[in-house]
Amino acid sequence: MTASVVLKTVNKIYAAKAKNPIYAVRDFSIEIAPGEIVALLGSSGCGKTSTLRMIAGFEEVTKGSIAIGGREIHMLPPARRGVAMAFEGYSLYPPLTLRQNIAFALKSERLGSAETDRRVEEVAKLLELTKHLDRYPATVSAGQQQRASLGRALVRKADLYLLDEPMGQLEPQLRAILRGRLKRYLREHGLTAILVTHDQTEANALADRIAVMEGGVLQQFASPAELKEKPANLYVGTFIGEPPMNVYRVEPQIADGRVSLRAGETELFGYDAARMQDAVVGLLARQSSVVVGVRPADVAVSPANGRGGATAKIVSNQWIGDQSHLESAFGDGVIVATLDGRFAGSSGETLSVSVPPEKLHIFAEDGPALAHGRHLAGEP
Ligand SMILES: Nc1ncnc2c1ncn2[C@@H]1O[C@H](COP(=O)(O)OP(=O)(O)O)[C@@H](O)[C@H]1O
Ligand SMILES: [Mg+2]
Repeated sequence: MTASVVLKTVNKIYAAKAKNPIYAVRDFSIEIAPGEIVALLGSSGCGKTSTLRMIAGFEEVTKGSIAIGGREIHMLPPARRGVAMAFEGYSLYPPLTLRQNIAFALKSERLGSAETDRRVEEVAKLLELTKHLDRYPATVSAGQQQRASLGRALVRKADLYLLDEPMGQLEPQLRAILRGRLKRYLREHGLTAILVTHDQTEANALADRIAVMEGGVLQQFASPAELKEKPANLYVGTFIGEPPMNVYRVEPQIADGRVSLRAGETELFGYDAARMQDAVVGLLARQSSVVVGVRPADVAVSPANGRGGATAKIVSNQWIGDQSHLESAFGDGVIVATLDGRFAGSSGETLSVSVPPEKLHIFAEDGPALAHGRHLAGEP
């Protein structure tokens, strides 16, 4: 029981007839394969929950269509869509114990009590809820309520599982454990799932593909690796990755076999043109101004060597366990570098910084990606 999901130019407008209608989702199109786990990722208010609720049938689709397993379902009542959902606000029934709440989801499957018990115990074990099953929602923690809500969705047999921020209330350790178990459970049963989250670690860990949304608009739908290596635009580039990508507005100057990326009088990055791909050099030659993006992990630092090149002055050096996060004044702004191991260096020291040309991300000033390293955007 697993199905494809196709959203075609789905729109959601709240208060459509009011003076200020709210455009929550705009022309959202996506195709999800059977058995695929997809995450909707984006900041608060970007339209994730609205999208999920339209698929489940708790919100009307203003415009567009939704099909599950090749069958258009957006006009059907929720109970006839073959969808199981874990809600952002849990929506547990207060007068029922967690066990009864989870079992309630099985009512329509008309199982015997032995089979119902077996299924409830199975998801309770998966979610570390066994000991709490006979308590009422009001007497357990938010994290336990949230897990019961997740259990109530997982216990059902459905064509599609919709999970809205299913682990937001859990403490980090338990969240990491349950992330692993949830993924294994979905995979073992070959289930199709759409997970909503604002946590990129969760999206990366669980999803085959991630749909990044902003302002109700799909920005990019791709694998975690592709989002990181080939962000479609500046929004995705800076949203994905921790710490975020460094970005600089620069004017490219190409002369005497050198590519110089300058902010005013200062050269931030300079390269021998022969070390760069011709197509990328050509692209830079045609632009009067671009935005370059550099991931903190791609920044190389060395003691200032006095031989020119860009220098940076350390502002802070944080040791965070197995990496150092180094922030330095650079050009008119700052550059953040993540370095393996413990970096010896303190505030005020001057460094040489460089980024290999194959690690540069180049964006147009208004956002779309132009090139990633050796490849123009859109090339394989
Ligand atoms: N029932 C509603 N009525 C009016 N506006 C709503 C309603 N639900 C959500 N919105 C608005 O729609 C936008 C998207 O909300 P939502 O889908 O909940 O975002 P997310 O889940 O990504 O945080 C927000 O501007 C939100 O305020
Ligand atoms: Mg939400």
